[in-house]
Amino acid sequence: MKDITVIGAGTMGNGIAHVFAMKGFQVKLVDVSETALQKAISTISANLDRMVTKEKITTAEKENTLANLSTFTSFDHSANADLVVEAATENMSLKLKIFTELDQLCNPNTILATNTSSISITKIAAATKRPDKVIGMHFMNPVPVMKLVEVIRGYATSDETTKTIMALSAQLDKIPVEVNDYPGFVANRILMPMINEAIYTLYENVAGVNEIDTVMKLGMAHPMGPLQLADFIGLDVCLSILHVLHDGFGNPKYAPCPLLTNMVTAGYLGVKSGEGFYKYEAGIKELIVSGRFNK
Ligand SMILES: NC(=O)c1ccc[n+]([C@@H]2O[C@H](COP(=O)([O-])OP(=O)(O)OC[C@H]3O[C@@H](n4cnc5c(N)ncnc54)[C@H](O)[C@@H]3O)[C@@H](O)[C@H]2O)c1
Repeated sequence: MKDITVIGAGTMGNGIAHVFAMKGFQVKLVDVSETALQKAISTISANLDRMVTKEKITTAEKENTLANLSTFTSFDHSANADLVVEAATENMSLKLKIFTELDQLCNPNTILATNTSSISITKIAAATKRPDKVIGMHFMNPVPVMKLVEVIRGYATSDETTKTIMALSAQLDKIPVEVNDYPGFVANRILMPMINEAIYTLYENVAGVNEIDTVMKLGMAHPMGPLQLADFIGLDVCLSILHVLHDGFGNPKYAPCPLLTNMVTAGYLGVKSGEGFYKYEAGIKELIVSGRFNK
């Protein structure tokens, strides 16, 4: 594999492009937004600068990485890609449209991967005529730092495609774990009920935000409490994954806490909106519990 296309230049797309380019792959980064592409290249460049400062890479390696990246506003130039990794906005109809178009455009050998957090790989694969070559490649945020890639086999994904993507992930210095395609895969099936239970614990006034997060940090050695993690992921994203689990399994244990639903409806989405369980202000690093929960 040499020629990789990454679709979507947001939080995940820029990180995925970064790790492939650093390992010498030729990466075409595609986004409908020119602004997103420019922002992605400056984020990658700033992240590489940080690695140079920490002496993890040399200036020459930084320059080579940037030279391996090119940006496009459509994937028309990706017909001969060996692999496409789709990391566009989490929206089912958007992903089905992208995969239908990729299937028509790309060489029959191109593997089509998606970084989706929650949409069925089997369903995305069914939008193509090559379901054996469609697979989930679920990187974690921030991509250059996090070691795990959850490699998700759709119902029709072939052994050969799985083997190729497992080996490729290892080539990126990641640790791939193979899982089957059921709602939430493994990571979110376990993580989201924990986050939801933490929100229920707050909602039922068992303890405050700080107290809940402190119990899980100090008691379970989690690097971040579940409420802080929910803010970091985005409360809208958490809610949408809980809906996928609830709909997919039909089990009431996945029903989202009404407090979470209210917060998302009111636009309190966590870090990205400036407030969730905590309040975020530019330049302030310490964790400040939102005034709504700090009475
Ligand atoms: N953010 C996370 O922590 C995280 C973690 C793991 C997986 N994911 C998954 O990764 C994917 C991307 O998430 P994100 O957080 O990077 O989103 P984001 O909103 O930061 O970026 C999405 C990008 O996709 C672009 N886009 C939208 N439609 C497009 C199209 N038709 N063609 C090309 N680009 C298009 C948008 O302009 C935007 O720049 C989602 O499927 C999400 O579920 C996210």
